[in-house]
Amino acid sequence: MDQRTNIAHNKGLVLDRVTKRYQSVIAVDHVSLNVENREFLAIVGPTGCGKTTLLRLIAGVEKLDGGHIYIQGRRVDDVNPSKRRVRMVFQEHALWPHMRVFHKDFPSNLSFGMKLRKQLPPSIEETANIIAKRLGIAKKLFPRKPDQLSVGQKQVVGIGRALTIIPKILLLDEPLAHVDPQHRLTLRRELKDYHNKMESITLYVSHNLPEAFSLADRVAIMQDGKIIQVESPSEIQSHPANEFVKDFIECFEMQSNLFKR
Ligand SMILES: Nc1ncnc2c1ncn2[C@@H]1O[C@H](COP(=O)(O)OP(=O)(O)OP(=O)(O)O)[C@@H](O)[C@H]1O
Ligand SMILES: [Mg+2]
Repeated sequence: MDQRTNIAHNKGLVLDRVTKRYQSVIAVDHVSLNVENREFLAIVGPTGCGKTTLLRLIAGVEKLDGGHIYIQGRRVDDVNPSKRRVRMVFQEHALWPHMRVFHKDFPSNLSFGMKLRKQLPPSIEETANIIAKRLGIAKKLFPRKPDQLSVGQKQVVGIGRALTIIPKILLLDEPLAHVDPQHRLTLRRELKDYHNKMESITLYVSHNLPEAFSLADRVAIMQDGKIIQVESPSEIQSHPANEFVKDFIECFEMQSNLFKR
């Protein structure tokens, strides 16, 4: 199937030679990728290889220098981020700094998106409470503003905020990096469960390979702005595309028991 046929048939996400430059740096270099509806795709690769930039381009908070992005067969390169049905949990957990975690009457991090979209039942309060409970956001945190939260707490509230609205595409940029291992396991299960229940695509960037491999249907390995290999976790482990992928995977083989689903 050629790329044009792919775009017409893919009801998910299509990246067609997507490119982003910052002066002399090519952060994302002609990346083409088809992600099917309901797919959970992990993106891994060394620091600075372009993972965050790629997500920011899909979210629309960064402009493309080349190529095109299609969501459900529609070109979205010039579509406003708020109209893309894409939600992103940023690596640097960009919460609204002047808003509390949650308040049923005032604008708050957990309620704002729902208010904008005129949330249908269950109510905003009920939805926020359910999400907070599932993610382990204690009620005592509700009145706090982001500068009164720990880094890990900010991250979890950021995830909660993304989950209050059902997106077409959920972009998670190292969402659990600052969360303790026990809470991390719970959140991992919640994210996977959320993904399974929704008609959404999840793109999950992580430096934690066992986590990425255990969650994802397919894993994309990036190097220097390019996707080097994108395949199922088992295929990547058994047939790494080149020496770089082989070495990258081998660094984590000592944790191989965690690779198992
Ligand atoms: N605003 C910017 N201005 C200039 N260069 C940038 C900018 N943002 C990113 N870059 C460069 O683009 C490249 C890709 O950065 P990016 O943040 O996407 O990497 P990453 O894979 O997410 O890394 P990490 O694993 O550390 O989060 C890097 O070389 C980075 O220095
Ligand atoms: Mg990054």
